[in-house]
Amino acid sequence: MEQTFLMIKPDGVQRGLIGEIVSRFERKGLQLKAAKFMVISRELAENHYAEHKGKDFYERLLSFISSGPVFAMVWSGDNAIALTRALIGKTNAVDAAPGTIRSDFAVHTNFNLIHGSDSPENAKREISLFFAPHELVEYEHSI
Ligand code: CMP
Repeated sequence: MEQTFLMIKPDGVQRGLIGEIVSRFERKGLQLKAAKFMVISRELAENHYAEHKGKDFYERLLSFISSGPVFAMVWSGDNAIALTRALIGKTNAVDAAPGTIRSDFAVHTNFNLIHGSDSPENAKREISLFFAPHELVEYEHSI
């Protein structure tokens, strides 16, 4: 089983899309392991997006991601990283395939609704930034 970190960003929360987005992962058959509704500090935002430091959109990204509550989650399942990224769609909504979250609901790269880990290494790192090990819940799940 693979785990991944997903985070509905402030635009997704403001637009009332938490239920719609969570429902897509549930219907797919992935298992929710942890969830947290929270406002991200500047320090956590810097750690989470460290790989983008120095890029022209970095400061805008940090202030946006801390501008309102996010819904941070851990999901589990076979190929969870690739599957969730397929459901989310390409970073730029213009390139996102029809039927993906970003194609269906987003217009702009800066407001693309949700973040998903892009590798097992980043999933591990991002999960540990947002959740303590005991916050991941073990329970029976059938698909
Ligand atoms: P996310 O998957 O959260 O990872 C980094 C975020 O930076 C990305 O989604 C976008 O919301 C944002 N971003 C803004 N401009 C760009 C860009 N030119 N390339 C990649 N990401 C960008």
